[in-house]
Amino acid sequence: EKGGWSSFMAKEISEEPEAVAKTLLGRVADGSVHLSELDSIGDDALRSIDRIVIVGAGTANFTGMQAKYAIEKWTRVPVEVELSHEFRYRDPILTPNTLVVSTSQSGETMDTLMAVKYARENGARTLSICNTQGATIPRESDAVVYTHAGPEVAVASTKAFVAQVIALYLFGLHLAVVRGTLSKDEVAEIVTELNALPDKMATVLEQHDSIKQLAGWMADTRSVLFLGRHAGYPVALEGALKLKEIAYIHAEGFAAGELKHGPIALIEPGIPVFVVVPSPRDPNSLHKKVVSNIQEIRARGARILAIAEQGDAAVLPYADVVIPIPLASTLIEPLLAVIPLQIFALELASAKGLDVDQPRNLAKSVTVE
Ligand code: M6R
Repeated sequence: EKGGWSSFMAKEISEEPEAVAKTLLGRVADGSVHLSELDSIGDDALRSIDRIVIVGAGTANFTGMQAKYAIEKWTRVPVEVELSHEFRYRDPILTPNTLVVSTSQSGETMDTLMAVKYARENGARTLSICNTQGATIPRESDAVVYTHAGPEVAVASTKAFVAQVIALYLFGLHLAVVRGTLSKDEVAEIVTELNALPDKMATVLEQHDSIKQLAGWMADTRSVLFLGRHAGYPVALEGALKLKEIAYIHAEGFAAGELKHGPIALIEPGIPVFVVVPSPRDPNSLHKKVVSNIQEIRARGARILAIAEQGDAAVLPYADVVIPIPLASTLIEPLLAVIPLQIFALELASAKGLDVDQPRNLAKSVTVE
């Protein structure tokens, strides 16, 4: 039940810290990671994998995009991310050393199920990341790592997104331990940061009311853009999907570097643009580039809503609104940055008087192709 919340979506966003904590529970201990669920694949097989393909749809595709940054960095195994409904129609290259990882909250999405069956039939190994115990996709896979987000009722996926990214990160760490690509200390450092995440998420949730006000002012907006870069890019796509899905507003997410290759032509006075700003401490120094993107679109009249690290002084002069998030490393930050975007979509849809839990034309789980 909704437990005092106005919608399941609002309740489920509030449960994100718990979804992360429960997904970590029992899997990280003494600064290391072990997923006993992967024993059915076995360490030898995990060592022989030479390619990972992550398949999913909608939000579950963006979690794969997000995890690619981490898994490749930690394991040096090439990762491809593909929409499950595209995958099996292009004669994909699969070998016993290909691991096809499916992501699905429901575990019943037909497009993803068919991709998994195809992968198995064509000799690949399969791992399912799923939030629903005993669902069809995990039953059709060689191994399953369950997310423990609890039942997600609202059509718009929120807590399942963060739990799914965590499960994929844990898989990446497990693989890195087995393959020896990260040192003990490196694993321990990441584990410490993962364990600190629920509390950081709780501080972002405290900003719900101020984001609600923002959404209230923007109820007549017809189009919203979302920009991100590197690990912030999938979050930009997710922010746009949420807004389309429940607020019926045209929204698009872009990689910030792509702006000058076309999308900047969309910028007109007054258009709201959410920007997921990398940390000024980002080792890739992308912060500077994103700030200069902000300057370029601001000069053309965009209204900038920046999601930036607390104390990031460089964005202040150019942003109309700054939504601060706690300090976190590059790969963890997106899990904090996504929350304000989810809240924004929820509150904008509510301000428009829409049923946020049951948007038009959509079903919670899409069991037809
Ligand atoms: O149950 P699944 O994770 O397989 O669902 C996949 C998509 O249908 C789902 O994520 C959809 O995009 C959500 N409604 C997004 O909020």
